[in-house]
Amino acid sequence: MTITLTTGKEIPIEMHKARIVQKTSLVPIDRRLKVLEEGGYNTFSLRTRDIFIDMLTDSGTNAMSDNQLAAMMVSDDAYAGCESFYKLEAAVNDVLRFKYVLPVHQGRAAEHLLAKVFVKPGCVIPMNYHFTTTKAHFVLAGGAVEEIFTDEALNTQSTCQFKGNLDLQKFEHLIKHNGTHPIPFVRMEATTNLLGGQPFSLENLAEVKKVAAANKIPLLLDGSLICENAYFIKQREKKYENSSIQEIIWEMTKLADLFYLSGRKCSSVRGGFIATNTKEYYELLKPWLPVYEGFLTYGGMSTKEIEAMAVGLREMTDINVAGSAAEFVKYFADRLVEQGIPIVTPPGGLACHLDAKRFLPHVAQCQYPAGALAAALYLASGVRSMERGTISTDRDQNGKEVMSDLELTRLAVPRRVYTISHIEYVVDRLKWLYQHRDAVKGLKFVEEPPVLRFFFGKLEPLDDWGKKLVATFRKEIGVN
Ligand SMILES: Cc1ncc(COP(=O)(O)O)c(C=O)c1O
Repeated sequence: MTITLTTGKEIPIEMHKARIVQKTSLVPIDRRLKVLEEGGYNTFSLRTRDIFIDMLTDSGTNAMSDNQLAAMMVSDDAYAGCESFYKLEAAVNDVLRFKYVLPVHQGRAAEHLLAKVFVKPGCVIPMNYHFTTTKAHFVLAGGAVEEIFTDEALNTQSTCQFKGNLDLQKFEHLIKHNGTHPIPFVRMEATTNLLGGQPFSLENLAEVKKVAAANKIPLLLDGSLICENAYFIKQREKKYENSSIQEIIWEMTKLADLFYLSGRKCSSVRGGFIATNTKEYYELLKPWLPVYEGFLTYGGMSTKEIEAMAVGLREMTDINVAGSAAEFVKYFADRLVEQGIPIVTPPGGLACHLDAKRFLPHVAQCQYPAGALAAALYLASGVRSMERGTISTDRDQNGKEVMSDLELTRLAVPRRVYTISHIEYVVDRLKWLYQHRDAVKGLKFVEEPPVLRFFFGKLEPLDDWGKKLVATFRKEIGVN
């Protein structure tokens, strides 16, 4: 919920109270430099003990509710027929209105199974935008990803409210001129993660469904951030301003033939599932579940997490849960805009995204500005963010570097974890960094994995800028 103070200032206000907390520490800047150098200037290599505020991701890092924790205590560990699964099934039936449920250990496992069953060599999969793991699985299965976003999607200084919309004309054009390449489904991602957590409108989803159905193409909905997308629809799409989050979710899921999600996001647990109302799809997927994940009633998830997921799915329909990250992201984004710091607008669902191309215009894209910015921010603050740009885009099949559409440094806001003072601290250190942006140079790979290189890749700073930045920080601010 957002509240207006007597001064007129609007702040997001927490509609919960903390009852269990985790201690953090702010290690001195010399230690930050040491661990960053040892980890190859990759924020994935850092350990929790060296991180003050962890904004790497909202995946599996959201605060759970007391009711979720309580539910974990009564989980049933039976290998087959476990009662916890039936609670999850009931929650999926009620909240998403899908009959068949296949639990998996996390979102990418759902993508793996979907790729295994539906994606064949030569296939083309249209989507509003890719996610790293989605693309990896579809391409590994021999498919090609065709992103058909609107022209506004890549404009980081936009006021467009639905940058996650799929361009219908391009979709129809693709279907018409696709030749013999089969289209197993069209994938819509609820709040496109790599575009900056940008939502699609329900109007757009309905139009996509119309075109897809007319061409006998199933619609696959990635609902990992479905409650955030529903929250934005309520805020931004006039027709739904009086609808509840639950009603909007039902409107979205009724258009989907196949659905999956990473439960690490909107249900605040560690797991995922595929769901559908089409028995034929269910029967095609089901045999592969025990091969790759686990038996039908746990699918690679801990039964404790299954219990918590069942509760988390119901809780995400509460507007104070659905809007909790989005409202913090907006507050965060507004403070950064006040400081003239370049970010993606409008603010999206899961994170505040720095536009690294505008933050570090002197760093060429082939020198990874978004990765350099993530590393520099860690040095200047102990805050961990994630590169979402060219480092996160693997080379093409010929080994050629592929420049990412956007160079973003993502500062994720896990739900109900951080407070306004944490946000104010990050804004302050970013302000300092922006004033010293000329000191930040690029990076180059010293170890580059062949796939999803952003996870384990090691890089080094060009011109040893890290040490110089640290020296300036010590002189102007001190050790912390
Ligand atoms: C939109 C989207 N789809 C799929 C995934 C993959 O899910 P997981 O990380 O649980 O494997 C993610 C993860 O962040 C995501 O954001």
